[in-house]
Amino acid sequence: IKTNVGIVGGGPAGLMLSHLLSRAGIDNIVIEKRDHDTIHNTHRAGILEAGSVKMLTDTGVDGRVLTEGHRHDGIDLRFNGVSHRLDFQELVGESVWLYPQNEVFVDLAAARKRDGGDVRFSVTDSEVLDLETDVPKIRFIDADGQRFEVHADSIAGTDGSQGICKRAIPAEERTDNFIAYPFAWFGILTQAPPSAPELIYANSEHGFALISQRNESVQRMYFQCDPTEDVSDWTEDQIWNELQKRVDGPDGFTLKRGPIFEKMVLPFRSYVCEPMRYGNLFLAGDAGHTVPPTGAKGLNLALADVKVLFDAIEMFYATGSRDLLDGYSDNALERVWKAQNFSYWMTSMLHSRNDHSSFERKRIQGELNSVVTSRYGQQYLAEAYTGWPHG
Ligand code: DHB
Repeated sequence: IKTNVGIVGGGPAGLMLSHLLSRAGIDNIVIEKRDHDTIHNTHRAGILEAGSVKMLTDTGVDGRVLTEGHRHDGIDLRFNGVSHRLDFQELVGESVWLYPQNEVFVDLAAARKRDGGDVRFSVTDSEVLDLETDVPKIRFIDADGQRFEVHADSIAGTDGSQGICKRAIPAEERTDNFIAYPFAWFGILTQAPPSAPELIYANSEHGFALISQRNESVQRMYFQCDPTEDVSDWTEDQIWNELQKRVDGPDGFTLKRGPIFEKMVLPFRSYVCEPMRYGNLFLAGDAGHTVPPTGAKGLNLALADVKVLFDAIEMFYATGSRDLLDGYSDNALERVWKAQNFSYWMTSMLHSRNDHSSFERKRIQGELNSVVTSRYGQQYLAEAYTGWPHG
């Protein structure tokens, strides 16, 4: 198969890139090892920056994000049992949208199908090769067992943190910047009405909790746990009691309980591959970096990478200039490191650690107070949370 851009990975990043390229008349093919329903049923974060929403609506993916999603104009930071609302509209004139990542995938996959995009799900044995040449290649076996070799001008690696693309970069050609955290999140989906109209990020002496939503009848919540936690060890009552403990306060705030139909442990790490490019392979999204979930930057960062990469590829086909392709890694990494800093900061400010001294615990209270009592502190958080403008 001859094409312009071979895209490895058909999650939101790969499908969005394919969508943008096709709209610009640039030929491309997407391969993905999972099937459509597996991705649809993989629950990830649920907050879209304004720029991510704009990317979906301005390019004709679908307006479902606006009709099914919910605009949120702020969040609560809660500590010592007291909620402090950050009003994003008032602080920075922006909002975010609560719309789950797996629905973004569904909308993008439907748009690719509608527009005749070439997306191959359930492929096996994929490899990328000749990356440093002018004809980088992808080999794969499709769902019917047929072997293919794709010859492209460039390859986009959008195959996530466990994918093949990053690993295809020789170890001596990349730096793996990595930190681990001594905790994880226990995430649930519950059949219950919303406990609050907006997200609550809670720091407590019992650890972090995040009260999020999905819709009128399904809610998403998380609490900090040990990375080795086994979700089957927890009864529904234990989960609810643990969540409630972490949001208890003098205002008597009480979670609305319901049956829990999904439980999972989310690992925490921060990772950046530098550069995000090797020859004619360009990494975007989780293939190039991972953020801890606090602040929901993962998908948004992936879409921002895709925008930078699309502009570079488009310039190449429009003018023959490789300038933006050569600048891709540096340009994308500027935002990546800002988002890494924000995710790391939110994570360390909101979670508790067993090895924390009384000094460190009190310092964090000082940090939280610095944010909520300062317009500038609140504005920094609001600006980063709602997302820096796309270049
Ligand atoms: C959700 C996840 C996050 O990591 C976050 O910061 C906010 C919301 C969610 O799944 O709703």
